[in-house]
Amino acid sequence: MEQLLGEMTLVEKLGQMTMLAASLVVTGPPGPDNPATKVRQGRVGGLLNTWGHDEIREAQRVALEETRLKIPLYFGVDVLHGHRTIYPIPLAEACAFDRDLWRRTARESADEATRDGIQMTFAPMLDVCRDPRWGRISECAGEDGYINAEYARAKVLGFQSDNDHPHRRMMGVAKHFVAYGAVMQGRDYAQVDVSERALAEIYLPPFKAAVEAGVGGIMPSFTDLAGVAMSAHRALLHDLLRVQWGFNGVIISDYNAIAELIHHGVAADLMDAAVLALRAGIDIDMMAGAYEEGLPLALERGLVHIDEIDSCVRRVLMMKEAMGLFEDPYRGLEKQSPGPDTLPHHRASARDAARRSLVLIKNDSDLLPLPRSTKRIAAIGPLADKQSELMGPWCMAGDEREAIGFLQGLREVFAQSDISHVQGAVVDGPSDAQMIAAAVTTTQASDVVILCLGEDRQHCGEAASRTKPEPPECQLELARAIVATGTPLVLVLATSRPWIIPQWLIDGSQSILLAMFGGTEAGRATADILIGDYNPSARLSISWPVNTGQIPVFYNMRNTGRPHDPNNGFSTNFLDAPINANWLFGDGLSYSRYELGDLRVDVATMDETSTIHLAIDVVNAGKQAGEATVFLFIHDPVAQVTRPLIEIKDFVKTMLNAGQSKTLRFTLNADQLRYPGLDLQPRLDDGRIDVIVGTSARAGDQKRVSIEMRRKMRV
Ligand code: NOJ
Repeated sequence: MEQLLGEMTLVEKLGQMTMLAASLVVTGPPGPDNPATKVRQGRVGGLLNTWGHDEIREAQRVALEETRLKIPLYFGVDVLHGHRTIYPIPLAEACAFDRDLWRRTARESADEATRDGIQMTFAPMLDVCRDPRWGRISECAGEDGYINAEYARAKVLGFQSDNDHPHRRMMGVAKHFVAYGAVMQGRDYAQVDVSERALAEIYLPPFKAAVEAGVGGIMPSFTDLAGVAMSAHRALLHDLLRVQWGFNGVIISDYNAIAELIHHGVAADLMDAAVLALRAGIDIDMMAGAYEEGLPLALERGLVHIDEIDSCVRRVLMMKEAMGLFEDPYRGLEKQSPGPDTLPHHRASARDAARRSLVLIKNDSDLLPLPRSTKRIAAIGPLADKQSELMGPWCMAGDEREAIGFLQGLREVFAQSDISHVQGAVVDGPSDAQMIAAAVTTTQASDVVILCLGEDRQHCGEAASRTKPEPPECQLELARAIVATGTPLVLVLATSRPWIIPQWLIDGSQSILLAMFGGTEAGRATADILIGDYNPSARLSISWPVNTGQIPVFYNMRNTGRPHDPNNGFSTNFLDAPINANWLFGDGLSYSRYELGDLRVDVATMDETSTIHLAIDVVNAGKQAGEATVFLFIHDPVAQVTRPLIEIKDFVKTMLNAGQSKTLRFTLNADQLRYPGLDLQPRLDDGRIDVIVGTSARAGDQKRVSIEMRRKMRV
């Protein structure tokens, strides 16, 4: 390594620190240079946005045969929720509350992507978000920091470690460091200004978890944070991430982000921008050309030192070595991806993933599951026969021709039923009275209507913020007409974000399924639930607000000095809307009912060295086998700073036959009880802690015990 470094010219070094985009897909503005020419000149270390046998082989051949030092390229793509087989979008998959599932789909994605020549994914995306206006909310694991941290760990292990075969492992790049999910107004790329406490409690823990799990890369956010542009944030990138957390992987800028320091108004030109980014700790410049253009001059002027550049190059070369590229530059590449042996297996897995991610939120009079013998089913709505949308954003190699929409899923699974389809409305645009009339006629002639509303996938993901995260008027008009028929109605919502659903539509729907974007097998998975072949087990990873003015609304709010009290006009409240979300984090139904026994704890007092053991019986009081999701929360009633009324610390899923009961066990130790004190350092107090176990975040579904913390050492 050192020998290679010693042989490199400055241009070659800066080349290793440069990542350019090919154009198989476009994920940002075009750069000025042709990447192929740059590769030939030895001025590129890795490419993004390309994959596939012929493309990768050719690019790598040029690097190996036509450049002076023959250093292999690496290839990175946003493999966010699947490569060719598309799994549910992260916000939906998070609703499965299933660490094994999160790992499995990451491992399978890596398996497919590495066959296509990809060694790096710009994932997991860990930007905790409470704002459905932000299009990128679809990419994160929801509103809670702990859940995003658990998701981070699972994804990193799944991508990087779970496959026994080294060629099937893919390096993760956790992004976007940090608090991108708090962009003001939910407007993409906008300013971020959150407190240091919010960073410590909510936004940093997922990244800490990714680092602890050994993530290979970190990508800083495009945004600024309290006035400091993240691509120049030395205190967070260098002092915290590198020094305090001991992260020794690569830091990769976001697309053109170093050059954007000029727009942020903290750099006068590319040289300035390059100096700031290098000083902050960014090793790889993605698509800005800032390092290549700016660092030679900065070096000449003594603004940076060659040792700083060498450290970055060393990290890039070490990363390539860890990827096995020096040993075999074509590692893992196969002619056909994902290969006939893996595809059916992954599709079955995607169907399972989607079933586990879909949240049943309302089911009046047990309308669902529908009897297998249902005669006439109307599949209505703009999303009913639109499998392409169900793949969601960032489904790069996903082929929409392979995806299964709701209509096809219904036709396959309800083989004995007569299924009619009328679109009734476009996804977004003017309403059409004739389309609505046809939908009404079909609905009236049916025993049940499945009304599939939702989003266009172009309207979500990056650069897709909306001030109105709600069904467009044309869909509402259709829905009004369908509700008015009085036909039993199952509302299926295929969205990338929480939507604001009017009360009349909630009331007019007997059952509501929050299908979100379920990926390649979304249609079959949804039909499996409608017919009862799968008993829904998912719970919301994100709250669904009543209206836009309520945003942000989330489950772990603080009590305030004037807690909400409907009988007290001087308590925290809205005059024109309820205080709670329509559907809260943790909400979700199943076809069974899970009942909890008393919560038992082995000791009533603990100290900083002890672990307490909790046990609770859960019984499936329903008639169908199913998987119960049970959460462990705590509440710290008296602390140095205000604490949320409830905060999640763990969760488990357990399969129960009808009538079966099981004892679930949790542990809690002092580390889980610490919180950032006044000085933001982890703090543990003496006194009472309430431990809460529940099937949701709602008081009615919970059991509580109190324990006493008595520290041995008092400081
Ligand atoms: C910009 C996005 O912010 C980032 O998430 C992504 O990885 C890059 N583009 C590359 O596509």
